[in-house]
Amino acid sequence: MDIKAGWSTPHESAHLHVAGEAAYVDDIAELAGTLYAAPGLSQRAHAKIKSINLDVVKASEGVAAVLTAEDLPGVNNCGPILDDDPILAEGTVFYFGQPVFVVIANTMIAARKAVTKAVIEYEDLPATLDVKAAKQAESWVLPPAHLRRGDTQSAMNDSQHQMSGEFSVGGQEQFYLEGQISYAAPREDGCIHLWCSTQHPTEMQQVVAHALNLDFNQVLVEMRRMGGGFGGKESQSAIFACIASIAAKLLNRPVKMRLDRDDDMMITGKRHGFHFDYRTGYNDEGLIKAVDIDMVAQAGYSADLTGPVVTRAACHLDNAYYLNDVSINAFSCKTNTQSNTAFRGFGGPQGAIAIEYLIDNIARKLGKDALEVRKLNYYGANERNVTPYGQIVVDNVMPELSAQLELSSDYKKRRKATRLFNQSSPILKKGIALTPLKFGISFNLVHFNQAGALVHVYTDGSVLVNHGGTEMGQGLHTKVAQIVAVELGIDVNRIRATATDTSKVANTSATAASTGADLNGKAAQNAARTIRDRLAEFAGQHFSGNSAHVEFADDTVSLGNKSLPFSEFIVLAYQARVQLWSDGFYKTPGLHWDGVKMQGNPFYYFAYGAAVSEVVVDTLTGESKLLRADILHDAGNSINPAIDIGQLEGAFIQGMGWLTSEELVWNEQGRLTTHAPSTYKIPTITDCPSEFHTALFDNRNVKDTVMRSKAVGEPPLLLPFSVFFAIRDAISSVDGHNLNPPLRAPATPEAILDAITAVREGRELHE
Ligand code: MTE
Ligand code: MOS
Repeated sequence: MDIKAGWSTPHESAHLHVAGEAAYVDDIAELAGTLYAAPGLSQRAHAKIKSINLDVVKASEGVAAVLTAEDLPGVNNCGPILDDDPILAEGTVFYFGQPVFVVIANTMIAARKAVTKAVIEYEDLPATLDVKAAKQAESWVLPPAHLRRGDTQSAMNDSQHQMSGEFSVGGQEQFYLEGQISYAAPREDGCIHLWCSTQHPTEMQQVVAHALNLDFNQVLVEMRRMGGGFGGKESQSAIFACIASIAAKLLNRPVKMRLDRDDDMMITGKRHGFHFDYRTGYNDEGLIKAVDIDMVAQAGYSADLTGPVVTRAACHLDNAYYLNDVSINAFSCKTNTQSNTAFRGFGGPQGAIAIEYLIDNIARKLGKDALEVRKLNYYGANERNVTPYGQIVVDNVMPELSAQLELSSDYKKRRKATRLFNQSSPILKKGIALTPLKFGISFNLVHFNQAGALVHVYTDGSVLVNHGGTEMGQGLHTKVAQIVAVELGIDVNRIRATATDTSKVANTSATAASTGADLNGKAAQNAARTIRDRLAEFAGQHFSGNSAHVEFADDTVSLGNKSLPFSEFIVLAYQARVQLWSDGFYKTPGLHWDGVKMQGNPFYYFAYGAAVSEVVVDTLTGESKLLRADILHDAGNSINPAIDIGQLEGAFIQGMGWLTSEELVWNEQGRLTTHAPSTYKIPTITDCPSEFHTALFDNRNVKDTVMRSKAVGEPPLLLPFSVFFAIRDAISSVDGHNLNPPLRAPATPEAILDAITAVREGRELHE
């Protein structure tokens, strides 16, 4: 059944957010006897631990216990896929910042003070800090993967033009405003109750159970809301969940582990930085004939989620373009740095920006507007519509969407205006770019695409909904409440979403891959529908009519000319012993994926979007400023347009940070030197463009999603590619747009000045 379009009801917690009353893990009233944990971190990138002296630490004021790997009761691993993530270092440290020991004390400050008193002797081992060196040394966390179609070599040779070069894009810290935190309480019979800021309560339940030799049914994980996750709390909440739980178990006291921001940034993994070596062949018009690319991902010291991140990168190299002959070699390089992990887009942005870089190069070589080259290469409707991994693109709206934005943003006129401006402006240079996006929705791993929900209707007509997804600010609970409200024909204010809880809905997937509302929304819809069907049957009896004609709308249950307010009707249904609660389940249909061949139908559908950005660059200082951004994005038939527009704006600015100001710098010792907001610059309100037009593309999902909506969490992170390429456009004006500026991402002032210098000296690309 198709239900009515969404509406912009406020976020279910908006009134709590603004009043400071929304409870995060650290706001939960503490239990008597609570202790606090702080980690002691490795001061070497790669070394043997020769000795650890913790005597002074133990004697430090307020310390209850100090734990090292030897004290762990179960497996010393919290890796999500492979067993290569020790909870505490055992004999060897693999990165600067790796937790080696933990102090448990009666205050957080006492624990942190005690940590500094440890004396650890190391014997240095050779450390690999750079992906290029790691690739050369064939140092992998996982074997290389290949995604290939056609005969790239001969297509390349047959092309009118060929080009080769390198490109690199940096990593990115998730910078959730609420840092990592876990609070564990021992319960009767060896059980653990864990409050954890995590996108993946089920996985936390499992890793904690393994670390404590417990059955899964002995660990309960609860999560009401996160102050942001952005992928950083998918797998990487695990180490803190394990440490808090282990300490709670060993000391038989509640233990809280709340990370200091610097420790958080030193310990946890980030978006993978990528390096690309490419060759491409194209014709006079700019049509791409062949792409041969090595994608080299900086995995860090362990696998974590690098496998699926690299897969998504490979599956998004095509972005919005048809590539006939293509060869992708993807390398998961092991370095002695934090283990990189999920971050909004999950490798997709890194894959897609590579093809955009090639297109930008090709256009400049041919003296064309990059937008013309983009349009030429867009996926087609009935031909040129199969992705390199074999999925047919059946829902392509890229040409229409891009044309609409080109008009609404006044692209052509403004492009001329920037050219004109630059002619009379020797120092400040303007640039403009329109970039598209196509993003596949679903987990590549088919079995993750399932979800469950529980809906309870109480006898006053109020409703409680619980599902496997987690709330991190993205509005998932709001959307699920809206879906249930529509099913039962009642006001959304009657519905309360409760904390995600492994004892209510079991065996859940991470709230990730933007699938939260698609999966949990459907599961909740199915649960609500079961209840409605039962209520309809009862209404048929009660109103003496055909139950097929019962209507649920406007807080009223009606049949023909008879009706009752929902809250009165529900009492009668209860008295008639109608079951007023139900579970619901959903699994995405039609998915298959062969991870070895990298072929299949991994995505239920695609989301599309495009953005135009206009920037100004100061060629003396390298500073850049986004002047105006126009976004047109396809969220299908949006469940909640206001929330979706919030996701667009947030993702755009977050992605702009990744590509312009957020730079991760490790020194020669492998120490991350940018581990606090003082040295790591995320965008602020002053970096937002003064003119910011954001609109939803008028569309309906061709697939049967809730309300024909589309997932919106991650795809718009690709929209600020337009900022990066607008900067590159401005830089290339320095020599009249003849050379391709070798601009790396993030385009910091230094990177911009390097590129300007290169262009002035007649150097282009990195060849
Ligand atoms: N929005 C907010 N406010 N906070 C977040 O942490 N995470 C993003 C995105 N939007 C995030 C966010 C990421 S990485 C994902 S995968 C999706 O939300 C997850 O939620 P969804 O599947 O319900 O969209
Ligand atoms: Mo999002 S990176 O899939 O948590």
